[in-house]
Amino acid sequence: MTLQFSLGTAAPETIDTACILVGVFEQGVLTSAAAKVDSATDGLIKRQMESGDINGKAGSCTLLFAPAGITAKRVLVVGLGAQKNFDGARFQKINIEATRALGRLPLTEAVSYLTELDIPGQDSAWRVRVAALAADHAAYRYTATFKPRSKSTQPELASIVFVAEESAQGGLDQAAGIAEGVRFARDLANLPPNICTPAYIGEQSIAFANKHDKVSCKVLDEVEMEKLGFGSLLAVGRGSVNKPRLIALEYKGGEDGVAPYAFVGKGVTFDSGGISLKPGAGMEEMKFDMGGAAGVLGAFVAAVEMGVKVNLVCVVPSVENMPDGDSYRPSDVLTSLSGLTIEVLNTDAEGRLILCDALTWTAQTFKPHTMIDAATLTGACVVALGKHATGLMSKHDDLAAELIAAGEQTLDRAWRLPLWDDYQVQLDSGFADVANIGGKMAGAITAGCFLSRFTDGQRWAHLDIAGTAWDEGRKGLATGRPVTLLAQWLLDQE
Ligand code: BES
Ligand code: MN
Ligand code: ZN
Repeated sequence: MTLQFSLGTAAPETIDTACILVGVFEQGVLTSAAAKVDSATDGLIKRQMESGDINGKAGSCTLLFAPAGITAKRVLVVGLGAQKNFDGARFQKINIEATRALGRLPLTEAVSYLTELDIPGQDSAWRVRVAALAADHAAYRYTATFKPRSKSTQPELASIVFVAEESAQGGLDQAAGIAEGVRFARDLANLPPNICTPAYIGEQSIAFANKHDKVSCKVLDEVEMEKLGFGSLLAVGRGSVNKPRLIALEYKGGEDGVAPYAFVGKGVTFDSGGISLKPGAGMEEMKFDMGGAAGVLGAFVAAVEMGVKVNLVCVVPSVENMPDGDSYRPSDVLTSLSGLTIEVLNTDAEGRLILCDALTWTAQTFKPHTMIDAATLTGACVVALGKHATGLMSKHDDLAAELIAAGEQTLDRAWRLPLWDDYQVQLDSGFADVANIGGKMAGAITAGCFLSRFTDGQRWAHLDIAGTAWDEGRKGLATGRPVTLLAQWLLDQE
């Protein structure tokens, strides 16, 4: 179920609702909403702080039930951490924790005063937007492949009112569109690979296009791609019965004839490694190898839902990488759509082999203003940056700066790695124009270098989301990154 959000203003001590959210800092410092509740309840919050029951630690939540002196049925006291370096990232965290706590209570509505908190450099529209997206993120449930359960009779959180001035409405409207895109991405990426095949991603894209006036969708199958010369992409897909697709969504939100922005996303619905088979442990996580596809599709959905006034295309090359008697193999030489030949040295470096053809096709077909690809491309990027930052590579300093800024602004952050030509020699091949792997060193960068050979003359950036697209472990879910970053970047282009 999706959460509903609205804005409101009302005094915390006299509002009539199932629950209000108020913040307290460490060392007994109350926010103004908490102070009002405190004085109306004969010092209830302060007394609990003195006893140590409420300590103000960031993200801690304490429930006060039906305190005498106020009209709200409950107060959720949310710890904010130390007051002196309270910032946007902490604000996001406490909103996530508060929503989780609300989700465990038998109530349908809440009113949050957390959006009154002051954050250096940010306005109330920003606070409302971040709070709404954090709440939506925390309330997300994956249910697609569980046995349908009879509806529980326990009330469920359905709506949150954020206390903020009317000027914050724009932030709330953006949050609604972005949340839709994030959910689209998470739902798609969480599906198992026996359901989420290349054909399925194509069908979902067509279904979305059919619901929206300014959106059209074209899906190429392997026969059409064969005719066009997608030699690299098709080689990767050959080992699977789930045949490749190239999905292209177009959104005409801007003026006619203006060059579109283009997103391209890696859509490997399962990456076994192919003949260069991956080890068994953790292989199940490779269902998320279409996280780039999910991310760019989600950003596309967000742009359409927000009605961003730009022209946008979203291209998804989608394959399954499997070992088979007909699989491509190490030492094969492929002829890419660009004409460049590629020596395959490892069939597990498949993402770049489908992206190169998709980037060539996107540039030729749409003559985009800017191209940005997103891909769960390399384990090396996870080694370099861990699970907090998306790897960003671009030869265009201005574009790199725009993307870093959009990431900072939305807390969906990217960090730049160099794409210097010095690294290109690692891709030299004795048998083809380029090899598909660059050896032990700088694996994220050499993958970027490989792609750069197919984007000559384009204003292009590459996002390696191998560390950020999903949470690790058996119960890890897709995060929906980098939908928010890309959506913000598009808003900045308007
Ligand atoms: N999809 C993987 C990258 C990946 C690995 C993402 C782990 C997230 C977590 C990609 O196709 C891959 O297998 N890359 C290889 C490249 C290597 C063979 C040069 C890798 O990173 O090991
Ligand atoms: Mn691989
Ligand atoms: Zn892969």
